[in-house]
Amino acid sequence: MTSLTASHAADLVAALLFILSLAGLSQHHTSRAGVVYGIAGMVLALAATVVLAAQSISAGAVTLIVAAMALGAAIGLWRARRVEMTQMPELIAVLHSFVGLAAVLVGWNSYLQVEAHGDAQTHVADDLLGIHHAEVFIGIFIGAVTFTGSIVAFLKLSARIKSRPLMLPGKNALNIGALVVFVALTVWFTVSPGLPLMIAVTALALALGWHLVASIGGGDMPVVVSMLNSYSGWAAAAAGFLLDNNLLIVTGALVGSSGAYLSYIMCKAMNRSFLSVIAGGFGIEAPSGGGEEQGEHREVRAADAAELLAQARSVIITPGYGMAVAQAQHPVAELTRRLRERGVEVRFGVHPVAGRLPGHMNVLLAEAKVPYDIVLEMDEINDDFAETSVVLVIGANDTVNPAATEDPSSPIAGMPVLRVWEAEHVIVFKRSMASGYAGVQNPLFFRENTSMLFGDAKRSVDDILDALGTSSGGGPDPSTRRATVAGR
Ligand code: TAP
Repeated sequence: MTSLTASHAADLVAALLFILSLAGLSQHHTSRAGVVYGIAGMVLALAATVVLAAQSISAGAVTLIVAAMALGAAIGLWRARRVEMTQMPELIAVLHSFVGLAAVLVGWNSYLQVEAHGDAQTHVADDLLGIHHAEVFIGIFIGAVTFTGSIVAFLKLSARIKSRPLMLPGKNALNIGALVVFVALTVWFTVSPGLPLMIAVTALALALGWHLVASIGGGDMPVVVSMLNSYSGWAAAAAGFLLDNNLLIVTGALVGSSGAYLSYIMCKAMNRSFLSVIAGGFGIEAPSGGGEEQGEHREVRAADAAELLAQARSVIITPGYGMAVAQAQHPVAELTRRLRERGVEVRFGVHPVAGRLPGHMNVLLAEAKVPYDIVLEMDEINDDFAETSVVLVIGANDTVNPAATEDPSSPIAGMPVLRVWEAEHVIVFKRSMASGYAGVQNPLFFRENTSMLFGDAKRSVDDILDALGTSSGGGPDPSTRRATVAGR
């Protein structure tokens, strides 16, 4: 077998491993196998690429490629070991920006090679030059949109810039105008390629990527992250065409289509229009403000919360981003165990975008060994709140905000939420009256049946566990110290 045939065979096996990886990652119990398939596929793909490259380039160049791979792998391992679970989406956004940048550089390199050598030292035949030019242009366009879009997503997710949507006048016309100009430039470039057109399309796409993601508000960021994932896949596929690399085309298409499907699922879960989000919040009007409302809230102490829980028939826990920040999942699991021992029915209600990445809460609860069968999706549990004695909202905010269903002018209007307020008592665990990720005030905090348990969520749950240990089992007596607070 020649090394070319071996490399093609390795590409095929790697592509199959990537498909198995995606299938494995779609279920809890097969996800570890999915990761192993993915790693095996990537190692095989890299080895095959180096072996193939070694046929046509110097030993020095191969050494450089291997050194770059080793350096990249070392940096990747170092980052992966240090990154907090709550920082995963911003890390993913940075990685998407690398894919976008790589596609732009591949496009530029491909153009410059053809300019310098014509078809003599490239794989491009004369009669295919027009197609090649279109590939270059499309690759650069998708790559540059992904690059700047991912940088803005990173800045928003890491709170380096505000997550509110940028509302330039005529923003929809700007986006559509940019697409029309891109199509016109592509036709022009295919007929008569030139450096000024390359510069123009790169600048146009960089600006469009920035504007598309800047126009999307905080609550819609989960969809944006999966959408950029999809764009990065298509950017990689475009680079694959330019490099004549079938595996890159297949892998890019897998990432592109699975990312698009994930975006679609998330849009459905959040009641958002898919087209509106991929077009940078197309058609979404400027929000009427975050609702800096003032009101009265009541506070409860951990000991009183413990009394209330000890008397409860049924409890639903709705975790959110704050549980991840506080790393409160272990005491929450212990509280669940203790309450169930006392005969209280305890279940979890998980919102599809609770936390900062899909499945965030499920992973934390599984890590703390909470039984899967009491962890329910929003749709499975939403009708049960009205029959529930106590709801513990642990570090969740946007995902339990009644404004989403009751205030059409709210920036999160229309997003389905957990209807926790229908329960008999609601206890909200958080540190202050600050708003959640979308920057919107939460009227839940001011409802008659809601009590705020201020402090770090882990500490508060630990205090409840202590109090439960010595609980007299007397009747509920939540402290009702009233306070008037500013909205945020
Ligand atoms: P958020 O709305 O983000 O609110 C989390 C709350 O946790 C905050 O109000 C914060 O209040 C509290 N908190 C933070 N640290 C805490 C600690 N140590 N102890 C106790 N409380 C703490 O949470 P959510 O309900 O999970 O909603 C998720 C939001 O993120 C949605 O808007 C969603 O669209 C967005 N998002 C989700 C994803 C994915 S894919 N899941 C990705 C990107 C963005 P204090 O500061 O007062 O404590």
